Amino acid sequence: MVAVDDYYKLIAPRPVVCVSTVGKNGAHNIAPFSFCTPLSFSPPLLGVAVGKGKDTLRNMLESGDFVVVPVTREWAKQAIMTAEPLPYGKSEFELAGLTPIPSKVVASPSVAEAPINIECTTQDSFETGDHVFVVGKVVHVECSDEALKKGRINIEELGTVGHITSGEFTISSEAVIIE
Ligand SMILES: Cc1cc2nc3c(=O)[nH]c(=O)nc-3n(C[C@H](O)[C@H](O)[C@H](O)COP(=O)(O)O)c2cc1C
Repeated sequence: MVAVDDYYKLIAPRPVVCVSTVGKNGAHNIAPFSFCTPLSFSPPLLGVAVGKGKDTLRNMLESGDFVVVPVTREWAKQAIMTAEPLPYGKSEFELAGLTPIPSKVVASPSVAEAPINIECTTQDSFETGDHVFVVGKVVHVECSDEALKKGRINIEELGTVGHITSGEFTISSEAVIIE
């Protein structure tokens, strides 16, 4: 028997991304999220459900932008370290040994160690239970050549990280054809 509150542990693995933001005071913030999904092709929209009271949410709403960074094998450990709940204004970049670099379009920083950085402006937000669902419009995508294979993410090379529950993850590097 599974408690209804544990439903999300049965929808797994959920792709893990980091969301990078900047505060009003200029301080960088980064944290991992697995409640993240594409929402629309045109315009290109995605959504992230962020728990109320989190620094990421405050920054996404206050600054009006954020960067979604798909987590891959090379920097997985550092990405998960950024879940540490530091006081507002303290940067998890430093704690995890990650390097914030200027993004191309938005004010929130990109992650130097990550092969893919997806820059978004905050388009909308609404409460979904104990989370707030933030809708972002993708305004720029930075992607290294090695991160791409036939126009999609090169999971064979990068290994994409998925969350199961607590400290359990998957790393996917195999594509199968189902016809
Ligand atoms: C793999 C993983 C996935 C997570 N997914 C989410 C999520 O989808 N939504 C959420 O609110 N918190 C999620 N968290 C927890 C946040 O990362 C954590 O609360 C973090 O401290 C928030 O940081 P902030 O206060 O700087 O925004 C996740 C944590 C981990 C390790």
